[in-house]
Amino acid sequence: MPQALARTAGALTALMVASLLLWAAPASADELSGGRLDWGVKESFRSYITGPIAQGEVQTGDGASTVDGEYRFHSASGTYEDGTAVVDYQGWVYFWGHDGELDLTFANPSVEYSGSSGTLYVYVNGSRTDMATLSGASLDASGGTVSVSGAAATLTTNGAEAFAGYYEPGQELDPVSFSADVAVEPEETTEEPTETASAEAAGDAVTGAVVDWGVRTSWRDYVSGDIADGSWTVADGAADGGAIFRFAEGAGTATAADYQLAFQGTVAFTGTNVDLAITDPVVTAADGQGVLSAEVAGTRVDLVSFEATLVETDGVLLAADVPTVLTEAAVPVFGGYYQAGDPMDPLLIAVPLTADAAVPALPDLGSDPVETSESEPAEVVDADRASSEGGLNPLVWIAPAAALLVLGAAAAVVAVVQRRKHRQRETEATPETAPSAGTPEDTPAETGAADETVADPAEPSPEGPENDKER
Ligand code: HEM
Repeated sequence: MPQALARTAGALTALMVASLLLWAAPASADELSGGRLDWGVKESFRSYITGPIAQGEVQTGDGASTVDGEYRFHSASGTYEDGTAVVDYQGWVYFWGHDGELDLTFANPSVEYSGSSGTLYVYVNGSRTDMATLSGASLDASGGTVSVSGAAATLTTNGAEAFAGYYEPGQELDPVSFSADVAVEPEETTEEPTETASAEAAGDAVTGAVVDWGVRTSWRDYVSGDIADGSWTVADGAADGGAIFRFAEGAGTATAADYQLAFQGTVAFTGTNVDLAITDPVVTAADGQGVLSAEVAGTRVDLVSFEATLVETDGVLLAADVPTVLTEAAVPVFGGYYQAGDPMDPLLIAVPLTADAAVPALPDLGSDPVETSESEPAEVVDADRASSEGGLNPLVWIAPAAALLVLGAAAAVVAVVQRRKHRQRETEATPETAPSAGTPEDTPAETGAADETVADPAEPSPEGPENDKER
């Protein structure tokens, strides 16, 4: 009889373990793709760099941009699983000062965040560093977007080293906001791509070309900064990559050194005393000497000149990072603040030659982040999202219920076994250690521990970014 009881207890224990394992089985992770991370590092540090002490400068690159004085990183990729977001972003910001004694690149930041706390990692001169602990803002997962708005950031010990000890660990840094879109699986389609949507080269005639141009970094900073207090919008086929605008549907003719391409789209800057729309640019080059013109207030104006030969790479005629300078004709467009010959932002011109040739991706800022509602905790939003999107594994609900039933049964059996043993001990007077079986009161702690094993943060990537700064 005792063997039968032991067998029953053993079977129940096995069932319980199986249930807990099922419970611990992670829900399938949501893939994240496209989004932005905004972080100003520390306002006083930015002032120090460009001020009279360090007499330095700040540059951004690889698609990072400045927005309201802060740095915006782009093209999120990562996962959202069991309430934890693990997201990588792209772009770099470079601080230089004290004649080069201070030489610091922060690149490709990433975040790990659950509930209302997390960690910010940054590649510091190529080494991935846990820079700051984040807290105080709830992770919001709703409307197909995962976001955190204004998390307080405090410097870690490793982060303090990046600042050569000028800040102590625990130093408050600028707050961090980030968002990323939940990627939607593209629908399977057997249809051939339509002619209008694909590139097509017949002789020198081409379609599907793009031109990327940020206008000028200091112009964007001026428009979005305190003075103009404005913003920009894109329309009619133009796209906003943060620091770069893309004009698409370029059509015309192209060979390596001679090309004429008309693009579509508008980027419109507005703010105090600012009202400038740049529409439908045309790029024209003869023997590699080119001009980019656009419609400005109803007139076509040559905006910048450049020198570029297109080189075929993977079916795309490409010229990237092409330096440009302002033309004489464009000086009035910017109110006379820039002179003819002043450097403007570089261009990228990409002309696909075959239908399956892919032009370089534009930095993907994702959707505008959803405003976080203070009164709505993240858990509630998650549950809502789970029911509407069916993203959570149903075992999350079924398995715990089964586990509780099994635990209850196991506890009852153990109690019976213990009572019998107790009686046996009383009758036989043999010393014996009582089994340390869990009581119902122990259950939450155990299940909590099982739950913890689910949150398994991603391994840090050993790769550093390419510090391809123009210096
Ligand atoms: C020639 C070498 C350097 C000199 C002479 C120097 C000098 C100074 C001085 C005088 C200050 C005080 C500024 C103030 O109170 O307004 C300062 C602040 C600071 N320095 Fe440097 N520094 C040097 C190199 C560096 C390096 C390599 C770093 C590394 C990132 C660094 C990071 C900082 C930081 C984080 C602050 C505090 C900025 C703030 O938030 O106000 N410095 N430095």
